Amino acid sequence: MKNKINLAILASGSGSNAENIVQYFEQHEIIQVKEILSNKKDAFVHERAKKLNIPSYTFSKEEFQDTSFIKRLADIDYIVLAGFLWLIPKYLVSAFQNRIINIHPALLPKYGGKGMYGDRVHKSVIDARERKSGITIHLVDEKYDEGAHLFQAECLISDQDTPQTLAQKIHKLEYEHFPQVIEKYIRSRAK
Ligand code: GAR
Repeated sequence: MKNKINLAILASGSGSNAENIVQYFEQHEIIQVKEILSNKKDAFVHERAKKLNIPSYTFSKEEFQDTSFIKRLADIDYIVLAGFLWLIPKYLVSAFQNRIINIHPALLPKYGGKGMYGDRVHKSVIDARERKSGITIHLVDEKYDEGAHLFQAECLISDQDTPQTLAQKIHKLEYEHFPQVIEKYIRSRAK
């Protein structure tokens, strides 16, 4: 039997997207989530990983910057960033060219870049009185949030919205689309 295509998920926080992706691919014929990696020891994503029976691991900044980190990813085909804070080092971007996928909780190219993460993004969008926001799923290059777009979806913002209510709308879009977009992209390259 042919080996499956292995995903590693990198997450820094709660990991609700990571959980959704693991569940989506649980019975998948060709794709599986092999492990969850985090830069934070106390991130809730580790609890989720335990519950889902997926190995999880915490790495330090030094480990991540060192090219030998790549040995940890020896059997990984694609890296998925699901709420991951750090910039991906150059050696990793070139080893996984077009094989690292990120989700950003806004309509890039607006509201991206260093420090634009989670609720900070939603607060900036609301402060700027935008009438819509959304999600961007894109490939990762050496810069924050600048790689080629694979998919965008929008939601409307009302006068009553707060960063928290906007976050809920965005999460809904993420759960609906992120696993499917990953699947579609990988399938298109597997042909
Ligand atoms: C998600 O909304 C994701 O788009 C965002 O962090 C959240 C993580 O939630 N990512 C970024 O802001 C990347 N710049 P989760 O931990 O519950 O999946």
